[in-house]
Amino acid sequence: MKEKILELGASFKDKLALATDAEALEALRVDFLGKKGAVAELMKGLRDVQDKKTAGQLINTFKNEVETAIKEAEETLRRAAIEAQIRGAKKYNPTLNFGRELGSYHPITLATKEVEAVFESMGFTIEDYAEVVDDYECFESLNIPKHHPARDMQDTYYLENGQLLKTQTSAAQNAIMKKYGAPLRAIFPGRCFRNESTDACHENTFFQMEGMMIDENISISNLIYFMKTMLSEVFKRDIKVRLRPGFFPFVEPGFELDINCLICGGEGCPSCKNSGWLELCPCGMIHPNVLEAGGIDTEKYTGFAFGLGLTRLAMMKYGVKDIRDFNSGNLKSLSQFKSV
Ligand code: DAH
Repeated sequence: MKEKILELGASFKDKLALATDAEALEALRVDFLGKKGAVAELMKGLRDVQDKKTAGQLINTFKNEVETAIKEAEETLRRAAIEAQIRGAKKYNPTLNFGRELGSYHPITLATKEVEAVFESMGFTIEDYAEVVDDYECFESLNIPKHHPARDMQDTYYLENGQLLKTQTSAAQNAIMKKYGAPLRAIFPGRCFRNESTDACHENTFFQMEGMMIDENISISNLIYFMKTMLSEVFKRDIKVRLRPGFFPFVEPGFELDINCLICGGEGCPSCKNSGWLELCPCGMIHPNVLEAGGIDTEKYTGFAFGLGLTRLAMMKYGVKDIRDFNSGNLKSLSQFKSV
């Protein structure tokens, strides 16, 4: 039995090395692990063996090794496919010169249009909102009173009259609730500003897309459904996501929704601060104080909100490694992105 397994192991290795696509891997899996595969044959052979226990263990170990090797090979293929996609169709090349062509959309505009189309198809209206707002809109109405520590992370540019450049698209939540009341489904993309030092993944000017859904019986399941649908529609492929608790005073509970970094495939790179993950879409169930400030009846309605990082999404979608390229005004590189 031992020799037989060794022989099969060697043949499996040879075949695995030649299996370079999903079909070949599946065929290999059927050959070895299928109902009539090599492992099943070995099990049948147990009948004629004296020491069934040892032989059984050997077969099991072999089966586990084959399963693990196939899984690993599938994972390697999956990653290679994602990388090829990123490098392929919309390869980002900062030196390309499209010279005499007429104007084109900025990649962030393209990403915005695409996300808008997805939400529009799910019944959301699209709202525009000011970039200069007041303290109430940007903080107070969002359950962030004066001197709340959450303000520390959102220092911004103040005007002499006390108004400020909005730090988050959430600043429009209050006005939009007051404008429409409940039930409500709206998204509102916008430019945000923060007093930040810049690096490959931080900018003092960036884009977010806020969304709110308020109705009777809205729960976290609705939130997860809409987030998943949006991501799979926008990226048009399966994206690894993780949901972890996150604190934002205007939601309870609040979450961070991260996606696997598509620039490095999760290995870690400057675009994802070497973590392999990117915070893409913080979200949560809207805090009752925020609903009340917007004039919504909290006895009757609940809702979710999210703040999608549009700039980050554009980076991932188009394989742009440095966020600063977006504001660089370098038309040679920015005009490569033609259509949605
Ligand atoms: N406004 C938050 C920020 O910029 C992001 C955010 C978090 C928006 C949670 C939301 C939310 O709507 O529910 O950091």
